[in-house]
Amino acid sequence: MTKTIWIRRALLLACGVLVGIVIDRTWQYGMVPTVATQQQQQQQAQPQAPQQQQRGEPLPTMQSLPEEVARLKALLPSNSHIMMDVQWHWTNLWFAGQAKNWPLAQFYFNETRGHIQWLIKKSPTVRSQGPEKEQVNIQGIFDGIDTSSLADVKAAIEKKDSLKFAATYKTMLESCYACHKSVGRPYLKPMIPKTQVQSALNYDPNATWPE
Ligand code: HEC
Repeated sequence: MTKTIWIRRALLLACGVLVGIVIDRTWQYGMVPTVATQQQQQQQAQPQAPQQQQRGEPLPTMQSLPEEVARLKALLPSNSHIMMDVQWHWTNLWFAGQAKNWPLAQFYFNETRGHIQWLIKKSPTVRSQGPEKEQVNIQGIFDGIDTSSLADVKAAIEKKDSLKFAATYKTMLESCYACHKSVGRPYLKPMIPKTQVQSALNYDPNATWPE
């Protein structure tokens, strides 16, 4: 009696294991389609759609292109905005130089130059606010400054020469103003900054915190 019960139990167990194996295999080989395999099949059937289409935005057509370009242009910062960045970096440069923090000065010099270049890339010519309202080639003006007064500031920073730095910084202010006058904005008169506006960075080159 006990022997037949054991055989029955063993048979039942074997059947259970077999059913388990069959279900597992059919699942694995895709006979029972899972969500993942369905997605895979769809992706294989369709060529990879561009990301824009996947987000539901139609791709620009030849007809919609001018409108699209105008929309993107409207998103660009204004010349005034870019120049306010220039002013920020240029002001911080003065105080970095006063603190003899030359790596920081180099950083602010690069930012200043980079932002003037950005203005020029965006608007190589600017409409003068003078009576003629002519288009002024600021690219040409900057090319002259970049190799003279601006290059001199860079050299002073590289030499870590405080006196030279102060002198070249002042001469560069005259070049800033030369460009402002050329674009009919003589009221934009730069000067040596009086107050440090950056209060979130330590200018002390020997600061021990944070490490
Ligand atoms: C190549 C030409 C050019 C040079 C060089 C230049 N600027 Fe300007 N700057 C402009 C123009 C153009 C504007 C007017 C932007 C506008 O509002 O249309 C301007 C405006 C400004 C403004 C007013 C921004 C505002 O709207 O409040 C400041 C501040 C300024 N510049 C600072 C400087 C400083 C500092 C320098 C020198 C480190 C400098 N600029 C060099 C072309 C120049």
